Amino acid sequence: MSHGSSPTPLTACTSGPLTGTIRVPGDKSISHRALMFGALAVGHSTVKGLLESEDVLATAAAMRAVGAKIEKDADGTYHIDGIGLGSLLEPEGVIDFGNAGTGVRLTMGIFGTHDIAATFVGDASLSNRPMGRVLDPLRQMGTSVVARSGDRLPASIRGAKQPLPLTYRVPMPSAQVKSAVLLAGLNAPGITTVIEPIPTRDHTEKMLAGFGAEISVTLNEAGERVIKLKGQPELKPQDLDVPGDPSSAGFPIVAALIVPGSDVTIENVLLNEHRTGLITTLIEMGGNIEILNRRDASGEEVGDIRVRASQLKGITVPAVRAPSMIDEYPVLAVAAAFAEGDTFMPGLDELRVKESDRLAAVARGLEANGIPCIEGEDCLTVTGGANNIGNGTVVTHLDHRIAMSFLVLGMAAHKPVTVDDGAVIATSFPTFTGLFSGMGADIRNSSSEAA
Ligand code: S3P
Repeated sequence: MSHGSSPTPLTACTSGPLTGTIRVPGDKSISHRALMFGALAVGHSTVKGLLESEDVLATAAAMRAVGAKIEKDADGTYHIDGIGLGSLLEPEGVIDFGNAGTGVRLTMGIFGTHDIAATFVGDASLSNRPMGRVLDPLRQMGTSVVARSGDRLPASIRGAKQPLPLTYRVPMPSAQVKSAVLLAGLNAPGITTVIEPIPTRDHTEKMLAGFGAEISVTLNEAGERVIKLKGQPELKPQDLDVPGDPSSAGFPIVAALIVPGSDVTIENVLLNEHRTGLITTLIEMGGNIEILNRRDASGEEVGDIRVRASQLKGITVPAVRAPSMIDEYPVLAVAAAFAEGDTFMPGLDELRVKESDRLAAVARGLEANGIPCIEGEDCLTVTGGANNIGNGTVVTHLDHRIAMSFLVLGMAAHKPVTVDDGAVIATSFPTFTGLFSGMGADIRNSSSEAA
């Protein structure tokens, strides 16, 4: 896992046009959930296109630790023999989630209403992230918790013997919190209700329905999503095909827009409306982005995305759009560096508690490369069009998306851009450098060069 391996500095140099037709790896959110729900179903599920990144493999290990059998065949399909809701075994060792916020928070939800004890650890980044947002509702459902101060990892939980269903209003826009409560509700009797004032990605709701749970989503008078889940269903195994991750697609999309002469098509990308805020924003900025071949794949919309280099212009990104592009702000900030004028991004409070304080990490990375920006408490303004940008080293703080975003910057900057640790990219996009090299990018391992 990245928290144990040594840092690998990478440098991206100015690139010629990026071209080609590519596929990005499977969606991270869906991959975590596929393994979890497969483990909770009774019987044999299959998953094609699973993202094989460190984060997702940590979730596979956690599900194995409670008794699920998970194996990969020669074709790359994952086979899961679920242990069944209510039948989880107590893990023998500590559960190490590495860098994976989604993995640990959703698993805490699952374990929190099972009569087992478990201890969770993670890397330095995960150990610094708030777990109280998940542990607080779990405590209300009967979970006992011992955690480091501020509800940080390491944390141990003892799942409720007699879990209580809960009605919970999610206090921040977080699909992880919503999902943790719903997953805890799976093994509680009666109805668990989650009220979501600001909509976030809905993979948990959609996939649980697909696995046979009784779950409904309605809007209340205030226009808030009200999700009701009937506890203790028998989840039925599924055959899933994971579409390409739109968050990973964000990197080649922005790179193709800002590297002159580029023309790139990314096939089979998830187009769930809660995930496409970056594409909407880049089109508003003048990006030449076409969605081709829109189709339905296992209940999700997917399509191919053709992107051609474009002159972008700065805009104000509506704050309400933030949840649908929350992981994409670092790479949007890079696009903004090449736009005419200012790009203003408000509503970014949640960026402070990601794999790093992403608002600060992005601002420092832009400054290190001569790009003017203003970091506010919960907003960022980037001024595009500066001359002679690049030549900086960016501190990634164990954050894969900071590493990838600034490598994309280096492809279009006047001078090379170095990130202090490219090893963290394995968290979500292990094929990143190979895929970009294949399109014509020039990414070098700076430590081996120096040796
Ligand atoms: C995720 C939800 C988001 C996102 C993360 C994946 C999920 O986190 O940033 O990468 O799969 O539910 P928050 O719920 O903390 O916003």
